[in-house]
Amino acid sequence: MIRYWQYLHEYEPLRKEILAVVDRVFSSGNLILGSEVAAFEKNFAGLCGVACGVGVNSGTDALFLSLRALGVSSGDEVITVANTAVPTIAAIRATGALPVFVDVEPDTFLMNVSQVDAAVTEKTRCIIPVHLFGQPVDMDPLCEIANRNSLPVLEDCAQATGARYRGKAAGSIGDIGAFSFYPTKVLGAYGDAGMAVTSRPELHAHLRRLRFYGMEGAYYAEEEGYNSRLDEVQAAILNFLLPRVKEYGLLRQAVAADYSAALAGVGDLELPLVRPDRTHQFYAYTIKTAQRDGLRQYLQDHGIETRINYPVPVHLMRGYNFLGYKPGALPVTEMLAERILSLPLYPGLSEDSIACVVMTIKNFFAARKS
Ligand SMILES: Cc1ncc(COP(=O)(O)O)c(C=O)c1O
Repeated sequence: MIRYWQYLHEYEPLRKEILAVVDRVFSSGNLILGSEVAAFEKNFAGLCGVACGVGVNSGTDALFLSLRALGVSSGDEVITVANTAVPTIAAIRATGALPVFVDVEPDTFLMNVSQVDAAVTEKTRCIIPVHLFGQPVDMDPLCEIANRNSLPVLEDCAQATGARYRGKAAGSIGDIGAFSFYPTKVLGAYGDAGMAVTSRPELHAHLRRLRFYGMEGAYYAEEEGYNSRLDEVQAAILNFLLPRVKEYGLLRQAVAADYSAALAGVGDLELPLVRPDRTHQFYAYTIKTAQRDGLRQYLQDHGIETRINYPVPVHLMRGYNFLGYKPGALPVTEMLAERILSLPLYPGLSEDSIACVVMTIKNFFAARKS
């Protein structure tokens, strides 16, 4: 069986060191918001080239609390995409605001920035570009639209730790960058974790209050807050793994390069497009084919696990019916949901496994040709 993702091969060689990190935290007498979180906030913000970071419980909370810090509340509108993971939208709804969707580009799967201007209304309070699969959205024209309309930009960087756009790190371009360290991510914790990064001191202070019941001192809320603390133990593990982010990105890119070299011209496959002004962290390697379901079944029958990110766009899910979107509202997003397939990819996926995935895909299309 070739798994879509797994972490045990990474854990095994690091096991002793990670357990020593865990023991250091458990023996320190401090489990919540101590020196480990502070160090990780500083180091991760440094990696992103921004002034500050606020560690929180998850990527969803990083988005939710960032929206709160930006003043988004009930009845406001937030422009984003439906071609994303549900949490992007869940975070918007947690503030009481409404998501307003623009479509995506058919080749990068990313926000079609040319549609954003037309989606702005007097209720719009924020724009959330999602750097899906690890490739940044076209941020310069997006920030130009945002500036012209005096709107903040919150980057959903959950899948894009370490990615760059025109030399700038994902998360450093908008007003706030929201990251997830869910275990499958480019930098993954051993449980849930997230962070919001920003270079604006007032947003930094606000985010710190919001994650801690709205308090600055003890037992006194300056405003309505929430509890979303990053655990010391997760921060310590993330700090330990942080120097490996570059290597993890390169390993993912190497797997993607191997797939792309071997799969060029096979069947009707369209391979992932990387725009020349950005780097792609390949959180997912996602191909497109009209024969997606047949190919997926064939790979499954040959012991190869794949994923569809995502089989149903958020605007067509039952849970979001109330938003009022109908099939056909976002044609590119809906077309992608029928055609995309993500292949196994994680740092350390063996050459044999990559060759086996490639050969099985070639066999599938060869059988259909003859
Ligand atoms: C695009 C996107 N946004 C937000 C999130 C939420 O992150 P988390 O699972 O850490 O809450 C995820 C991860 O699932 C994601 O892929």
